[in-house]
Amino acid sequence: MAGPPPLQAVILAGGQGTRLRPLTLARAKPVVPLLNRPFLAYQLALLRAHGVTDVVLACSYRVDDVRAALGDAEHLGIRLRYVVEDDPLGTGGGVRNAADLVAGTLFVLNGDILTDPDLTEMRRFHETRGSRTTIYLQPVPDPRQYGLVETGPDGRLRAFREKPAADEEITTNTINAGIYLIDAELLSRIPRDRPSSIEREFFPALIADNIPCFGWCPTAYWRDIGNPSAYRAAQLDMLHGRAAMPLAPPGQRRDGIWLDGGSTVDPAARIVPPAVVGARVVLGSRCRVGPGAVIGDGTRIGPDARVEGAILWERVEVGAGAVLQDCVLGADVRIGDGARVGPDVVLASGTTVPERATLTA
Ligand code: GTP
Repeated sequence: MAGPPPLQAVILAGGQGTRLRPLTLARAKPVVPLLNRPFLAYQLALLRAHGVTDVVLACSYRVDDVRAALGDAEHLGIRLRYVVEDDPLGTGGGVRNAADLVAGTLFVLNGDILTDPDLTEMRRFHETRGSRTTIYLQPVPDPRQYGLVETGPDGRLRAFREKPAADEEITTNTINAGIYLIDAELLSRIPRDRPSSIEREFFPALIADNIPCFGWCPTAYWRDIGNPSAYRAAQLDMLHGRAAMPLAPPGQRRDGIWLDGGSTVDPAARIVPPAVVGARVVLGSRCRVGPGAVIGDGTRIGPDARVEGAILWERVEVGAGAVLQDCVLGADVRIGDGARVGPDVVLASGTTVPERATLTA
């Protein structure tokens, strides 16, 4: 006899990630590295921890990046399938495009939020309220850049206001946190063949049609990783233990340092925790890495260089005596000897910084 159907999720992973440029010119946002793992690996681990084993990725932009980073995710205990839009269909059309592969109640996630809510509790809430669409909500100090969600005393959705411009429209500080539970039958309301927005069209229409929809507002860590400063801050949160990690960084952990295989650390080099050092990294004499540093696979840090609060992707070359402070460097960046890269600078993959240059944001 067949068991119950697997719990399913659709992850929206097709955006161009314009706010995270120039990093997203070289890699799709859903698979930018966080502590040397593709971002979506954390979302998949969260879903798996709450019993979801069947996930559909709704892709459009740089699909090959996503496939190369995640494959079929078998090692994560998940069946992962890809649906690809020829032309981007927006957040509504992206979910609609996956509709043939899902049934029952499914999770839908934005592929750019780092968060650790109790999704099992969210399902319980959804079921006990008789909800047909439940939206995960978060209170934020400045809700202007997000979608505001107003609820009644019982949690029922009253209004949805996407990125309000006028101050008088800011009627609440609870925002759409980018995870939904949706009764799959409702997906047929989304047009199949034109771009549409789940936030601007689908949700407001459900409210207008009096379909029971609720907001669920737990206490949880939450961060949208969609711009460079948030992308860097999310990793510092993980390193400092402010964000729960459903998945550890690759490598062995010792004294707040994760060190992956095949690295060469000069005896006079110092790694100051917390820090993550990837595979096949070379740390030169008297260099100092950390606190708050993430060093991608195959990166080389020259003698006397300093890397603090900085995120380095794969195969970066840092010259002797260079200083990298609170910045983000894409893959294959070359930093000349004695150069300085300062706070909030973001360098596109492949950038070369000349010797002794100083870069500020
Ligand atoms: P920005 O351009 O920086 O705003 O980023 P974005 O393109 O990712 O847009 P946004 O942050 O609003 O997207 C929210 C989520 O929806 C992200 O996980 C995106 O990957 C996803 N998304 C946005 N547009 C599309 C689309 O046309 N198709 C699909 N499948 N997903 C999308």
